[in-house]
Amino acid sequence: MRVLLIGSGGREHALAVSLAADPSVDQLIVAPGNPGIAPLATLRPVTATDPAAVAALAVEVAADLVMIGPEAPLVAGVADAVRAKGVACFGPSGAAARLEGSKEFAKSVMAAASVPTARYRACSTVDEARAALGEFEPPYVVKNDGLAAGKGVVVTSSVDEALAHARDCGRVVVEEFLPGPEVSLFVVTDGVAAVPLMPAQDFKRVGDDDAGPNTGGMGAYAPLAWAPADLVERVMRETVEPTLAEMRSRGTPFAGLLYVGLALTPAGPKVIEFNARFGDPETQVVLALLATPLAGLLHAAATGTLAEHPPLEWRPGAAVTVVVASHNYPGPPRTGDVITGAERPGVIHAGTARRDDGALISAGGRVLSVTAAGGDLAEARAAAYALVGDITLDGSHHRTDIALKAARSELDGRP
Ligand code: AMP
Ligand code: GLY
Repeated sequence: MRVLLIGSGGREHALAVSLAADPSVDQLIVAPGNPGIAPLATLRPVTATDPAAVAALAVEVAADLVMIGPEAPLVAGVADAVRAKGVACFGPSGAAARLEGSKEFAKSVMAAASVPTARYRACSTVDEARAALGEFEPPYVVKNDGLAAGKGVVVTSSVDEALAHARDCGRVVVEEFLPGPEVSLFVVTDGVAAVPLMPAQDFKRVGDDDAGPNTGGMGAYAPLAWAPADLVERVMRETVEPTLAEMRSRGTPFAGLLYVGLALTPAGPKVIEFNARFGDPETQVVLALLATPLAGLLHAAATGTLAEHPPLEWRPGAAVTVVVASHNYPGPPRTGDVITGAERPGVIHAGTARRDDGALISAGGRVLSVTAAGGDLAEARAAAYALVGDITLDGSHHRTDIALKAARSELDGRP
């Protein structure tokens, strides 16, 4: 089949690696893609958030399947435009992508479906936010209602800081702080049938030992040997099935990838957030372990035949990804620095560009996502960090403790 993948980040490079390796894929086109994807696929320029442009490209390349990577095109209705042309598309409608596009909408769906999540108040003025903060204990959690590219959430014990964020955002959700380790669970769904992938853990803070500000994610690993044995089954029953049923009953079924961000609280797993797409960088480790061909799975979800898809198969062992970030990230990143050692298997490109003279340069905050699998987490870590050690990028930084505690089995159900 001919597959068109939309996006240009590390998630899309990881997806492209899996799609290119699927024997049922005879042509892979990625738009706009990045220099790391170029050896795997035909790259085409496109404005990913332009529904008409993506739909026209899907028709032009005679795609059998379109896969939309990032959230902004989904929220903009790109999947609707592609399907309107009669092309199978993996990715929710604009109406269903509101599960990610509006925190308040997601909360209202969870409330209607009795999904375990933090108590919340939706606020549209600073006075409302102040009143809402009074209903919760610190630390306070204040979330921008709309898409904010990983910068929308402030967790703080300072009322002033919490209110300043509410003022900056306009419309916010104020919610209860959920204690406990975080887990990302990806669920492939056609709106009715739902297939969970392997849970993974992301490292959100920029520095070792979770120091410093939140980022888009500085690394990830799977599997989670320390997680409760019934975690996936419980989340499917308590969260995923009721959410999908609620979306169907509203006439806006959610088909695509439901990303369930969870806190494993003492009272059980509770939803921190829903996203409408694969997570980055967790996708890098989950796909490194998925033995089932990816395109067939996505095509089944895109065509409403997921219930007939065979059970997923996984490779033994573990996978680790370490993000190499630009100077000053997660602040405004310095870009344009030359990168060496990054054009080899396992080095996933997230924010790179090709200079006119052919040099590979940094072009974003998260530049590379260096991924390796191994017999166990210790082996996977060693392999990933060996690859990191071969990379040069002036001013770059990375965490040195991705999956370290898990590899040492220091996690007794705790992060
Ligand atoms: P989000 O943008 O919703 O992924 O939130 C970013 C990060 O903020 C999450 O990964 C958590 O670390 C933190 N966070 C968000 N909501 C909560 C909450 N209710 N309790 C604790 N931490 C939270
Ligand atoms: N890794 C977090 C996210 O993709 O939102």
